[in-house]
Amino acid sequence: MKDEDKTREQPLNEIAELRQRIAELEASASRRNESEELLRKRTRDLGERVKELNCLYGISKLLERPSISLGEILQGVVDLIPPAWQYPEITCARVSLHDQIFTTKNFKETIWNLTSDIGWCGKRIGALQVYYLEQRPERDEGPFLKEERSLLNAIGERLGRVFERKQAEEEKKKLQAQLQYAQKMEALGTLAGGIAHTFNNLLMAILANTSVMLLEADPAHPHYEKLTTIERVIGSGSKLTKQLLGYARGVSYEIRTLNLNQLVNETSEAFGMARKDVTIHRELAEGLLEIRADQGQIEQVLWNLYVNAADAMPNSGDLFLKTMNITDKDMKDNPDKPKAGDYVLVIIRDTGVGIDKKTIERIFDPFFTTKEVGKGTGLGLASVYALIKAHGGYIEVDSKKGEGTSFEIYLPASEK
Ligand SMILES: Nc1ncnc2c1ncn2[C@@H]1O[C@H](COP(=O)(O)OP(=O)(O)O)[C@@H](O)[C@H]1O
Ligand SMILES: [Mg+2]
Repeated sequence: MKDEDKTREQPLNEIAELRQRIAELEASASRRNESEELLRKRTRDLGERVKELNCLYGISKLLERPSISLGEILQGVVDLIPPAWQYPEITCARVSLHDQIFTTKNFKETIWNLTSDIGWCGKRIGALQVYYLEQRPERDEGPFLKEERSLLNAIGERLGRVFERKQAEEEKKKLQAQLQYAQKMEALGTLAGGIAHTFNNLLMAILANTSVMLLEADPAHPHYEKLTTIERVIGSGSKLTKQLLGYARGVSYEIRTLNLNQLVNETSEAFGMARKDVTIHRELAEGLLEIRADQGQIEQVLWNLYVNAADAMPNSGDLFLKTMNITDKDMKDNPDKPKAGDYVLVIIRDTGVGIDKKTIERIFDPFFTTKEVGKGTGLGLASVYALIKAHGGYIEVDSKKGEGTSFEIYLPASEK
């Protein structure tokens, strides 16, 4: 080859080399672009995961708060959901549990939604829903990511367990309150019973001595009349101790089959004579089932309720007495979970002053009275309560200040 040719060939070679180099550089740039894209995607994904974790962490923190209510938990959870989704600014959420519904402030139903059930004991008790307010590109499930689906399911499951726990806590609280009340009543019952016994013994001793003195005294004696007064006053005292004993446990009963209509008729007629200012209305069911009860004690229950009603209507009023047959199924709202079977219901309703919410919680407490000293003993309703319980019955009260009061007494119907 000539030298001339050689020198011409050299630049050609260089060009080829440069071309090759450019191709290589281009390839490496595109590789770098690809990995940069991948890195961006990974970072984005990681960002999403961090948001989801934050959401779960927030929920855990919420649940740790002592004495937080179920409502506060549900509201807290819906508010924690949007920030965990891809487009927080267009995300809203709603949770419904039984009849309670909580939503984020911006809540609106749209066609872009993700729903998860809240379950408890295998039953669906509510739902958790996330909505997008605007359209977004299609992803794994509509515009939503599969991770968002798992997150929503996880929250739904968690809420189911929280509900279970709260339910158990509430049940426990209720039972504790019931137990406490029963214990208090029992303690006071024992106390009242003890006092009544001792008192009755004292009264009987006085009565015995008075009777002996009366037997030996000449009716013309100046002390004779005073002694009869003493005898009569002892009679009233002994009546009061009987009331106390009726409230106390362990009293002997004479259980017979009774017709409650007849008892209501007789007692209310007698009461009407004593309190002419009270107009009595009776609506007694035909074919009312019989009850097995101690007549004297049921009469005492009715009488105590009439007296209270009349006391609540100082300037006259109406007393409505109603009886009817019912079953335990009609008593579903009763927190004591009544035993299955037939019951006889008697309603004693007045148009009196009513009882405010705070007072109503205490009316069955022994010695609780709102009446002035000497007028109220606070034993009427306590003995009513004890007597009804002793008969396997239930008592409910419904009243509002200024709107009258109604007592409902449920007594088990006799088997026959
Ligand atoms: N029918 C009623 N209307 C309004 N308040 C009532 C009625 N029955 C009971 N109460 C309230 O319950 C309290 C307790 O009643 P009770 O145990 O019979 O005691 P007392 O009648 O001696 O006060 C009463 O003092 C009264 O405040
Ligand atoms: Mg009373």
